[in-house]
Amino acid sequence: MPSASQKTEAHNILISPRSSSFVMSIGYNCTVQVVSDFDFTLSKFTENGERCSGCHNVLEEGGVLPEDFKVKARGLRDHYFPIETNPQLSIEEKIPIMVEWWTQAHALLSSYPLTKTGISEMVQNSTAKLRDGCPWLFDQLDAKNIPLLIFSAGVGDVIEEVIRQQSQFHKNMRVVSNYIDFDEEGKMIGFKGDLIHVYNKNESSIHDSDYFKNLSHRHNVILIGDSLGDLHMADGATGVKNKLKIGFLNVKVEESLELYKKKFDIVIVQDETLDVVNALMRSIL
Ligand code: TMP
Repeated sequence: MPSASQKTEAHNILISPRSSSFVMSIGYNCTVQVVSDFDFTLSKFTENGERCSGCHNVLEEGGVLPEDFKVKARGLRDHYFPIETNPQLSIEEKIPIMVEWWTQAHALLSSYPLTKTGISEMVQNSTAKLRDGCPWLFDQLDAKNIPLLIFSAGVGDVIEEVIRQQSQFHKNMRVVSNYIDFDEEGKMIGFKGDLIHVYNKNESSIHDSDYFKNLSHRHNVILIGDSLGDLHMADGATGVKNKLKIGFLNVKVEESLELYKKKFDIVIVQDETLDVVNALMRSIL
C-alpha cells in the first residue's frame, strides 16, 4: 500500500498511517467484520460521469409510480436535502428535521399502490449500479465467512433487489434499513419498525441487539461510507480493537476534503469502483 497520507495517481486516494498499522494488526480473517453504507458507497455515485440513482431515486425514476409521486418526492428532497448537508447546523438540530423528512417521504410512498413486483421492475429500469468490483467483494467476504452489515437510511427492499439483480445475496450479508410492509397479496401497506434516517445509523437502529454481541471476537472493523453520518454505523460493535474508516468523497470535494481526511483513515475521491477497498481486502484476506 502507498505510504502515509500519500496521494496516488491511478486512484485519487488519501491514506493515513493508521491504515498500514490496521493491515498489520489483522492476523486472522476470523477477527474481521465489515460495516458498510449502501447508496453511493457500495453503489455508484456516477457511471462514466453520469449520475446514478440512489434507493429513493429508483422509486422516483423506475417508471412504475406516476409522475406526481416523483414531483412530490423531489419537492421534499429540494427542501430537506440542503438541511441534511448544511455544515452550519448541528446534528442535534438536524435530527428532528430529518425525522420530519423521512416520515413525510414514507407516508407519501405508502399512499401509492406499490407491489413487490413493482420494486423489481423499478430496479431493472433504474440507473442504480453496484460499483465495479462489488460482486468480487461480496463473494470474497462470503467465501471467508466475514460478516457484512449493510446499514442504510434508504429502502431495504430496493437494496436487496439491486444486490440480487447485479450480484448475489450471500448468507454472510445482513441489511439494516427501512423495509416496506407488504400484505399477503404483495401490496404495500406501510413501513416496518422504526425509521432509520441519516443521523440515527448507529446501534440504536439495530434492533437485533445480538448482532454485534455475537461478533465481539471480530475486533477488527472495516467501516465504509460516504457521509459523516456513516462514521457511527459501527458504534454498537463490542470489543473493537481496530477500526479502519474508509470514506468515499463523491461531492463538494474541495469544501469537504480536509474534514474527510480528519474523520476517515482512507479517503477515496470521485472513484466509480471498489478497487481501493478490494486491494485492501486482498492484502488482509
Ligand atoms: P444513506 O445513503 O446515508 O443511508 O442516506 C440516505 C439518503 O437518502 C440521504 O442522503 C437522503 C436521501 N433521501 C432521498 O433522496 N429521498 C427521500 O425521500 C429520503 C427520505 C431520503
